[in-house]
Amino acid sequence: MLIACWSSKGGSGTTVVAASLALLLARRDPGGVLLADLAGDGPAVLGLAEPKSPGIAGWLTTGADVPVDALSRLEIPATTGLRLLPRGTGPLLADRAEVLSGLLGSDTRPVVVDCGSNPTGAALTIAAGATRSVLVTRPCFLALRRVVAAHLRPTEVVVLTEAGRALTRADIEDCVGAPVIAEVAVDPAVARAVDAGLLASRLPRGLAKDLADAA
Ligand SMILES: Nc1ncnc2c1ncn2[C@@H]1O[C@H](COP(=O)(O)OP(=O)(O)OP(=O)(O)O)[C@@H](O)[C@H]1O
Ligand SMILES: [Mg+2]
Repeated sequence: MLIACWSSKGGSGTTVVAASLALLLARRDPGGVLLADLAGDGPAVLGLAEPKSPGIAGWLTTGADVPVDALSRLEIPATTGLRLLPRGTGPLLADRAEVLSGLLGSDTRPVVVDCGSNPTGAALTIAAGATRSVLVTRPCFLALRRVVAAHLRPTEVVVLTEAGRALTRADIEDCVGAPVIAEVAVDPAVARAVDAGLLASRLPRGLAKDLADAA
């Protein structure tokens, strides 16, 4: 199962939601889970050192004659049951994006992909073709109008809820044409855990609860 997370606006919480979904799935899936990072913050959000090894961007520049296990050899262990496929450096060329999408989609493990904000190139291919294409958004008119204007349509939505916003869950569903599957509270404990590199080891309970049904 391929779960692609993306947003229409930077700073929406996509990386935190993608990493948290992967961590929650890893808790209950004995076969392990893969977090594929197309946005670049994967190591940092999991409290890992920046890998020196190549990542997905490098793999996308290779030709069709690359060994079949080349992509899986780029994975690094993140925490119990979770491996990270780092982004690496350079552009995410779209030429081999369909092959990447096929490889991730046929993985026997659940695969969560952080496609970043306004995905383009390979990230757009993955976000458009994933079984679950999850828009992560604030209840924000400026973010939602971008979703409507773009061609990418989510299959579901995770909303970061903030006190005092005017747009409701129903407004968001009407606007983007997909159901809201989770409302995640904006909670300073989450930001603190991320800043301290402790999200993976101490996933805040409120965040785990808010995302439980989405994982
Ligand atoms: N539920 C939450 N409660 C409080 N803070 C949060 C929450 N989710 C994310 N944050 C904080 O908001 C900031 C942006 O989060 P994140 O990096 O996940 O967004 P993003 O959409 O991936 O951003 P970018 O577009 O830069 O990739 C970070 O400082 C993060 O710690
Ligand atoms: Mg991000």
